[in-house]
Amino acid sequence: MTTTLTRWWRDAVIYQVYVRSFADANGDGVGDLPGIRSRLPYLAELGVDALWITPFYTSPMADGGYDVADYRDVDPSFGTLQDAAGLIGDAHRLGLRVIADVVPNHTSDRHPWFQKALGGTDRDRYLFRPGRGADGELPPNDWESVFGGPAWTRVEDGEWYLHLFAKEQPDLNWDNPAVRAEFEEILRFWLDLGVDGFRIDVAHGMVKAEGLPDVGYTPQAKLLGRAELPYFDQDGVHEIHRSWRRLLDSYPGERIGVAEAWAPTEARLAAYVRPDELHQAFNFHYLTSAWDAEELRTVIDESLETADLVGAPTTWVLSNHDVQRHVTRYGGGETGLRRARAAALLMLALPGSAYVYQGEELGLPEVLDLPEELLQDPQRGSGEGRGRDGCRVPLPWSGSEPPFGFGPSELSWLPQPEGWRDLTVAAEAADPASTLSLYRDALRIRRAHPALGDGDLHWTTGPDGTLVFTRGDFACAVNLSGEPVNLGVDGEVLLASGPIQRDGSGFVLPPDTALWWQTGNPSGEAQ
Ligand code: GLC
Repeated sequence: MTTTLTRWWRDAVIYQVYVRSFADANGDGVGDLPGIRSRLPYLAELGVDALWITPFYTSPMADGGYDVADYRDVDPSFGTLQDAAGLIGDAHRLGLRVIADVVPNHTSDRHPWFQKALGGTDRDRYLFRPGRGADGELPPNDWESVFGGPAWTRVEDGEWYLHLFAKEQPDLNWDNPAVRAEFEEILRFWLDLGVDGFRIDVAHGMVKAEGLPDVGYTPQAKLLGRAELPYFDQDGVHEIHRSWRRLLDSYPGERIGVAEAWAPTEARLAAYVRPDELHQAFNFHYLTSAWDAEELRTVIDESLETADLVGAPTTWVLSNHDVQRHVTRYGGGETGLRRARAAALLMLALPGSAYVYQGEELGLPEVLDLPEELLQDPQRGSGEGRGRDGCRVPLPWSGSEPPFGFGPSELSWLPQPEGWRDLTVAAEAADPASTLSLYRDALRIRRAHPALGDGDLHWTTGPDGTLVFTRGDFACAVNLSGEPVNLGVDGEVLLASGPIQRDGSGFVLPPDTALWWQTGNPSGEAQ
């Protein structure tokens, strides 16, 4: 057992595996744990430090696995517990850590606890309430589900239960000590199996305001919202995270907790990563920023300042399984891809830890034209358009026809566009100018360069519409101005997201391009 603290998580690059869509080993068209296991060498070669795997537990899949019916087993479509143990072991041998996804805010409606509650036993593990109106025919309060519609569903005997997400995802009652005890056991189960930490789903949702008061207005929560609500970001959640931190710390090997938390202000978000709470929180403010120099600079500064308040590392994320892929968000087509490549170099040069969502290293766009009848996301139809399936299309690995090596059969649970033949791992691995090669190069440089990862940055003045900063003798510039810019500085190029030029006074950066270079000046000045 090692006792040396590496604080590995402070600058880790963590790759998000959306299990249904990463790699399919058994040919049923759905990704699985053996599929992930077979592709671990790919992740090791890519150069990431850890993978976060979205829920693979027993689930009726009303929300792609975020509706858990048995927290201590693997869904048969994803494999077995033995596969999970094998995957963790193989990952460790390759130097990769494994983060599991724990879903404590709600269970599946098929969870034995909820089935019992429906029958009237131990209802207090969930949030059942009588309705309002003369016959209790109205929901107990005005709360809305994140997926749209009322957050309450009525059961046969007339009571209502709370579900902040789909009706198949009843919210647990965290005031009940049995719920707390059960989750400590669940965490122990996976820690004993060797996971290196947890991404905590809806970490801001477990505790609700006393008396479940009305919000008073509509529409309310969006999945990635910022409002103050009686069902999100209540002070009581912190006590739970503190107790989980103690549990994590009682295991060897620096196991971590990562909050999927939304809070109305930066300071409230920072509370989740105080020294005695979780290690990291996702930086959704960065993810939702536009491709705009001023906006990005503001959010970068705010993120660094807030993290500093509590001594936590900043994190950066551009995409995940809940949002439109950033190639498309940044404008789509060639422009979107150019910006996405520049955004990758910006993100990987910033201080702290970064999250890479599967397929972004290939420059995959959102699939916008999936046939209506194949869509599965419970969020669709909630006013959010077609939902989140378009960022969950199975990865293209090789070959020239769908499903592009996703699995050994012709099947894939969502169809891939024909055009992805040029975006397969095999095609991109063979091309030094591909997005995959860019990510590999960036991650290799990031790992080797002493100035990158944890630490701070120093802004320098660049032309309008650019972001330029140094970290020791390393420098990064991004041109968001829409015009070529002359940086007026020169140095030794480390990596560029697109072709760059030089004139007599130094680098000339085309629009939507990022550059890493070595300044030759360890004091941090760009010239
Ligand atoms: C989180 C997940 C999302 C899921 C929701 C409900 O936000 O990222 O995919 O739908 O929680 O569990």
